Amino acid sequence: MNILLLNGPNLNLLGEREPSVYGTMTLAQLVSRATAHAKKKGAKIRARQSNSEGKLIDILHAHRRWADGIAFNPGAYTHYSYALRDAVASIQVPTIEVHLSDVTQREEFRRISVIEPVCVGRRYGKGLQSYLEAIDDLVVRQSGG
Ligand code: DQA
Repeated sequence: MNILLLNGPNLNLLGEREPSVYGTMTLAQLVSRATAHAKKKGAKIRARQSNSEGKLIDILHAHRRWADGIAFNPGAYTHYSYALRDAVASIQVPTIEVHLSDVTQREEFRRISVIEPVCVGRRYGKGLQSYLEAIDDLVVRQSGG
């Protein structure tokens, strides 16, 4: 099984970006832990990150035949990008929305997700664990569970 691990804007700065909210783990460390976790479950990870909305759309399109599932942290685009929402809906690859922080308990604007309705699930508020749970969800889905 192939899983695209896609991270949006500002997530390249993980580790130094607001560590009290997002923790001290870097994106490289997070990807390496997620890759090891997926491998144990028989899944292969391809990790991509972009700060740009159009690039994220291009990455989604480019992986539409490769990926059996997507774990997607769209960063702040979560809250207002109809273009990313349409991209996820267009490619018909099961996608789990992922967040490190608990977006339901922060500022008002973070409570809205325009991506959620086109995803098959959502994991948030657990840091790295949110990503690992999203991988587990995709593996279970793929195996028909
Ligand atoms: C985030 C939450 C978003 O609201 C924020 O804009 C981010 C990170 C998270 O992982 O908690 O960039 O997606």
